[in-house]
Amino acid sequence: MSTKPGSTNMRIKLETLSPQDSYGSMWEHWYASLRRVLRNKLSSRQKLSLRLLRSIVVHPAQFQTHLNRLRYFRGVHEKPEISYVPPVIAATITDQCNLRCPNCFYILHDPDYFFSSFISPDKFRQVLEKYNRPRKAEILFLTGGEPLMHPKIDELIDIAKSYNLRVKMSTNGVLVKRKLSSLSKLDYLSVSMDSYDHDTFKKYRAGHEKQFDMILEGLKALKENNINFAISFVLSEENLHESSKMIEFAERMGPSLVTFHNISPHGSTDFRPLSFQSNQTVKWLEELISRRDYPFDINLPAIFDLESPSFREVKCIQPWYYFCFNSVGDVSYCCHLPHDPKIGNVFAGYDFNSREMTLFRKETMTGKMTSDLIQKNCLHCQRRFMGKEFGIFDSRVRTWFFSNVDALVEKFPDVVSE
Ligand SMILES: C[S@@+](CC[C@H](N)C(=O)[O-])C[C@H]1O[C@@H](n2cnc3c(N)ncnc32)[C@H](O)[C@@H]1O
Ligand code: SF4
Repeated sequence: MSTKPGSTNMRIKLETLSPQDSYGSMWEHWYASLRRVLRNKLSSRQKLSLRLLRSIVVHPAQFQTHLNRLRYFRGVHEKPEISYVPPVIAATITDQCNLRCPNCFYILHDPDYFFSSFISPDKFRQVLEKYNRPRKAEILFLTGGEPLMHPKIDELIDIAKSYNLRVKMSTNGVLVKRKLSSLSKLDYLSVSMDSYDHDTFKKYRAGHEKQFDMILEGLKALKENNINFAISFVLSEENLHESSKMIEFAERMGPSLVTFHNISPHGSTDFRPLSFQSNQTVKWLEELISRRDYPFDINLPAIFDLESPSFREVKCIQPWYYFCFNSVGDVSYCCHLPHDPKIGNVFAGYDFNSREMTLFRKETMTGKMTSDLIQKNCLHCQRRFMGKEFGIFDSRVRTWFFSNVDALVEKFPDVVSE
């Protein structure tokens, strides 16, 4: 048995429904199962080789992108300098926000972090031209601050789409209703809720009742206009007892996916992340996975196994995988850390390998977490476990899929099996 949380040596239980259940055709059913098995059983490199092969045959035009990904796979955790474009570009298109969520990582770093700044469409195009022509990255995240506060958001979405990227957005939802036609062009839209009524919205998002009502109107409009959306909740020991209300809220709103994030406390003692060492967390998980009739998919958060000897050693892929810059072009080590011109600026010759960025990657490679910055922010950050999340619910086949996390096997021996 592997002892690494999130080890690539995945074990899953495939519980299938009889063909007359929700699934349309046997073929679709088996194809989906096969994909899941491949996704979970093959190593990243094997999956990549398969994709490269497929891309050459099916989409010769995407060859550059897959080659770029191959370079990424060869470089991640191997070299502190990189010679490719990180597969995900995260553009903080505005550093302004209309909420002040007490658990927001920006606020945790500095309560006065936000400032009124919006990247211009010309500058935005300039960055994509410089770093991603021909197309190499795969995903472009439009984020903030609050991305929908950008006065030219429609133009930015059109520009992003013209670069053939899969364009995704995370929004707090307040302004969704005003931007429906542009939002319908996105490949993925996630509305961060963390709340489900006026009281919880005030508590967890520091917002006004009117803003919560605007979010509700926005979600209803998305539904009426058949725009696919996800909703997300950041969980901690402090709000876990409210999770059944979150599920009920989601059932009323009709997203296609509910994502639970584990809180990254960034050194704050006000929020305790979910861990297998907490009875409350284990009970919550038990209840959640005992149901299989959710009308949406669910992504479980990465739950920490604080007692695992390898907990500290899981190395984050962010500094190799993500390219994060803000509205004035400043770069960050990771999208959950503040942007800083010392790390680099996209309008001042940043080439992914500034001294600071390289040092950060070097330290990540050691897995030792010695610097204060990494110790404080990374140890209890779920992004360190990105791609290694251990559980999802697939509503089409009404099945939970779990990967091999030792603490999970120990607590729920019947759930995870060979
Ligand atoms: C920083 S927000 C920016 C986009 C937008 N304002 C929003 O709220 O979706 C991006 C995502 O990070 C999540 N987030 C913020 N602080 C977090 C933290 N300390 N731990 C985990 N997730 C966090 C938010 O809930 C949101 O889903
Ligand atoms: S809405 Fe998003 S960016 Fe704004 S404070 Fe909340 S989490 Fe942070």
